[in-house]
Amino acid sequence: MVSFIRVLVVVLYCLLLPLVPGEGSTRFYKFNVVEKNFTRLCSTKSIVTVNGKFPGPTLYAREGDRLVVKVVNHVHRNVTVHWHGVKQLLSAWYDGPAYVTQCPIQPGRAFVYNFTVAGQRGTLLWHAHVLWLRATVHGAIVVLPKLGVPYPFPAADGDSLLVLAEWWKSDTEAVIDEALKSGLAPNVSDSHTINGHAGPVSACSSSDGFTLVVEQGKTYLLRLINAALNEDLFFKVAGHQLTVVEVDATYVKPFTTDTILLAPGQTTNVLLSADQGGGRYLVTASPFVDSSLVQVDNRTAMATLQYADARASAAALTTAALPPQNSTTTASGFLDALRSLNSREYPAVVPAAVDTSLLFTVGLGLNPCPSCVNGSRIVAAMNNVTFTMPTTALLHAHYFNVSGVFTDDFPGLPPVAFNYTGSGPNNTRTMNGTRLYRLPYNTSVQLVMQDTGIIGTESHPVHLHGNNFFVVGRDTGNYDPTSSPAKFNLIDPVERNTIVVPAGGWLAIRFIANNPGVWFLHCHFEVHTTWGLKMAFIVDDGDGPNESLPPPPEDLPVC
Ligand code: C2O
Repeated sequence: MVSFIRVLVVVLYCLLLPLVPGEGSTRFYKFNVVEKNFTRLCSTKSIVTVNGKFPGPTLYAREGDRLVVKVVNHVHRNVTVHWHGVKQLLSAWYDGPAYVTQCPIQPGRAFVYNFTVAGQRGTLLWHAHVLWLRATVHGAIVVLPKLGVPYPFPAADGDSLLVLAEWWKSDTEAVIDEALKSGLAPNVSDSHTINGHAGPVSACSSSDGFTLVVEQGKTYLLRLINAALNEDLFFKVAGHQLTVVEVDATYVKPFTTDTILLAPGQTTNVLLSADQGGGRYLVTASPFVDSSLVQVDNRTAMATLQYADARASAAALTTAALPPQNSTTTASGFLDALRSLNSREYPAVVPAAVDTSLLFTVGLGLNPCPSCVNGSRIVAAMNNVTFTMPTTALLHAHYFNVSGVFTDDFPGLPPVAFNYTGSGPNNTRTMNGTRLYRLPYNTSVQLVMQDTGIIGTESHPVHLHGNNFFVVGRDTGNYDPTSSPAKFNLIDPVERNTIVVPAGGWLAIRFIANNPGVWFLHCHFEVHTTWGLKMAFIVDDGDGPNESLPPPPEDLPVC
C-alpha cells in the first residue's frame, strides 16, 4: 500500500510538474556534429552539420523548461554551440563561445549543455561559436509560452520557421584564412538561402527552393532568423503585409510593414494573413548595406508562398520590387517602429538610474603587416582595443583566479576623443589586448556604442551574451553626453540581445548586470569578430543567495 501511494505521488508529481509556475519539464536532445554532402548552386560540397541537416534541427521548449543537449563532435575540427539569446541565468558555463566560457569540444569528445529557458519566449537561434563554423552549424530555438498562457496577439492557425543564411562554394575556414593572410576583406558568400535553399538561380538549371503552403483565410506565425555570417537582410513576401509581434524572443507593440530587417543573430516573429485570392507569391531575402566601402553578396534568396488550391502551382508567380540594397530609410523605418509591448503582463522594466556609463567606439583600423598585400592589415576594435582571443577559457581563468590570461582594464571611454564619424584620426592603428571590463553584481549599466569613420562608416550588429538590454537611444552623427540623453525612450524601448549600431551613428543600451559570469560582447558580422571587434564583461558574484555562479560541470572541455 505504502509503495502504491509512493508510486501515485510520483506519477501525480510528474503529471503536475509542467503546470507548476516556474517549474518546467526537461527536454533532451542529441547533436551529432557530422560532415555531410550537399548539392547547392550546381555543385556538391561536404559541410559540417548537426545531425546531417542544413539548417540544423529545431529545439523546442516551453518557457521555464530545461534543455539538455549532448553535443558529440564527430568531425576533425573543434566545436562549441552557443544558444544565442538564451539568458543563461547562473549557467554561464553552458553559454558556448569558444575561449570565452569554455574550451572547444575537441574531435571525438562530447559535452552536455544543460540550461533553463526562463523569462523569455519566442524564437531564438543556436549556432557554433568557434571560427566561422556557424555558417553551416546553426538552427532555431522555439520557446513557446508556458502551458495555458496565451500569446498577447491573436493566435495563428499555423507556425512556420524561415532560417535565412548563406551558401559558400568554398570552405568558409579557407575563406577567412586567406583574408587574414592577405590583410584584405574576405570574399562574400555565393548566395543567400532560405531554409537551406537559394531558390531559382539563373546559372543553374536545378531551380530548387523552399515552398511555404498556406490556406486562404488563415493566419500564420512566421519565425524568421538571420543566421548569415556577414550580412543584414531584408525579408519580404510579395503581395502580403507582415505584422511584427516579437523580436529576439521579447514581445513588441504589433505594427504592420511590408519589409523586415534582420541583422545576423536577430530573430523576429511576424503574423501573415493568407488574404490574397490564391496563387503563388515570391518570398525574398536580400542584402542591406548602407556603406560604400563594403562588398556584399547581392544574390537574393528566393522562396515561394503558395496557396493550397488546385490551380496555385500553375499560377504565375507574383513578385514585388526588392527594397533598394542601400536603403537606410527602409532600415531605420523598421528599427524606429520597434517598441516593447510594455503591457501589465509584460512590463518593460527599463533601468531608470545608471551606475556605470560607458562609451565604446566600434569600427575598423589598419595595422602594419609586412607580409600582407598592402603592407597593412584591416583590423577592427572597440575603444581602439583589437581583442586577442586567449588560448584558454576566460570564464575558467576568472572563476579560478588564473593570472596572465586577461586583464580587467578595458577602457570605459575612448582613449582619445575625436570627431568619431568624421574622416577619423590620422593614426588608424589599434592596440592588441585581452582586456575585460569588470562590473560589480547588480550594476545598472548604460553603454553607448559609437560607429567610427576610420576607413569608412559601417553598421555593426552588436550582440551581448547572457543578458537582454533595452535600446534607449539611437541617432546619426556623434553621441553628445549633454544633448543626446534628453531624447532617450525610457518608457517602452525595445528589448533585444542583438542591435544594429547605425553606420555613422550611435546607439545606447541599458541593462542590469545581475548574471554572474563572463559575457561576450561582439559584432555579429563574423568577419568583424575575427578582426577583433569584441570584448567581454566580467560580472562578479553578489552576496545573496542565488547570486553566485555555481562551479563548472565535470565534463567541461579542457584546452
Ligand atoms: Cu550569436 Cu557570440 O553569438
